Amino acid sequence: MSVSEMTLDALYRIDNYIDTFALGHYARVLAAEEVHGGRAVAFKVMRPEHLSDDGTPRWEARAFVNEADLLVRLASSSAVVRLYDCGYISALGERPEGGHIVSCETNISAFRENLYPYVGQGWRPYLALELLPRQHSLFYLMKPNAANGRRRLPTEEGIDLAMQFAEFLRDAHDQRIVYLDHKLEHVYWDGATLRVIDLNSSQLVETGTHTVDQYLAQDIHNLCVGILYPVFTGLSPQKGALMPQPASQAEVEQRYADVNHLDFGIEPTLSASLQALLQKGARQDLPNVRAFRTGLEHVAIRHGWELPGSHTVPTLREAREQVRAGLAELRRGQDALRAARETLLEAVILDDINEDMEAELRRLLAQINEALNHRVIP
Ligand SMILES: Nc1ncnc2c1ncn2[C@@H]1O[C@H](COP(=O)(O)OP(=O)(O)O)[C@@H](O)[C@H]1O
Ligand SMILES: [Mg+2]
Repeated sequence: MSVSEMTLDALYRIDNYIDTFALGHYARVLAAEEVHGGRAVAFKVMRPEHLSDDGTPRWEARAFVNEADLLVRLASSSAVVRLYDCGYISALGERPEGGHIVSCETNISAFRENLYPYVGQGWRPYLALELLPRQHSLFYLMKPNAANGRRRLPTEEGIDLAMQFAEFLRDAHDQRIVYLDHKLEHVYWDGATLRVIDLNSSQLVETGTHTVDQYLAQDIHNLCVGILYPVFTGLSPQKGALMPQPASQAEVEQRYADVNHLDFGIEPTLSASLQALLQKGARQDLPNVRAFRTGLEHVAIRHGWELPGSHTVPTLREAREQVRAGLAELRRGQDALRAARETLLEAVILDDINEDMEAELRRLLAQINEALNHRVIP
């Protein structure tokens, strides 16, 4: 495919940064809109500091090609964020403004072939991705408002998320792709559907090397430690409050390497079978997705899930249905609180209200915020 240059403005209308609450090492990410058709996208562009003086692409630039390649290979896996387009832009500043663009669409060989020529001239790689709503970012949702605060997902939802993650990893591992970069910043959850972003630290492992098995086990370990432990406790695996996780390639490999035991002291009522499963993952005792999935099914059945071949006690099944109905009500309730807050906020900014009205509106807003800070579902 021959690529042609055009002005950036001809292809994309670039809007605000959307990564400020969870900055990445490689990229800045902005909301944008395709000029033709108006589709909303997340525009992920390499940070200018990763350009080198001599024009050779650093590993940060090569990581964009790696990510695009893996996104295309995993396009049939429903949890994976969609790739719409990739290419290079000439704009010099961090914010992609003005200048030119070459779009390779989803042609990965064209993207790869153009890496050296374009980065050599100081252009930067970008990916245009499906735009996921910030309100579904697990890091954003679970981040407490006050010191010592923490939130956790209800067990039923956490099991559901873990099941979907296992499905995604099965698709990936079937192709010898390991995700590796497990952290809440990369997981989106709306209560029903899992979505995963950022595959630039993920790897397609060579066949025939004994490291394949090691990598697959490490991927399960990272899932248990880096995502499921925080999901069920609201804590970081390195002990202590939730915090953004380091992100360069070496750091991704090392981030959870020393975590081989998880502390559930703060969450004593968490299902013992679930604690045991995550503890096994932390010890690297779950060699592959199948082992993880078998353990997870055992936990799920104890929580009323009906799975092929399981003999779920009818009462438990019924209780689970009530749990799901109750959680759906709770989500609606929390949405209603947010809607009420929006309505009152509109009143409080009206120009000519008097002090009596303003004081009352502020009291109500404070109470609503208090209630939302103590919400049941993150
Ligand atoms: N498709 C997307 N939709 C919405 N927000 C996104 C999307 N991709 C990235 N982001 C936001 O940008 C941040 C950085 O993106 P990420 O892909 O993790 O970059 P890096 O490779 O530099 O780590 C994410 O933590 C997230 O907040
Ligand atoms: Mg990232």
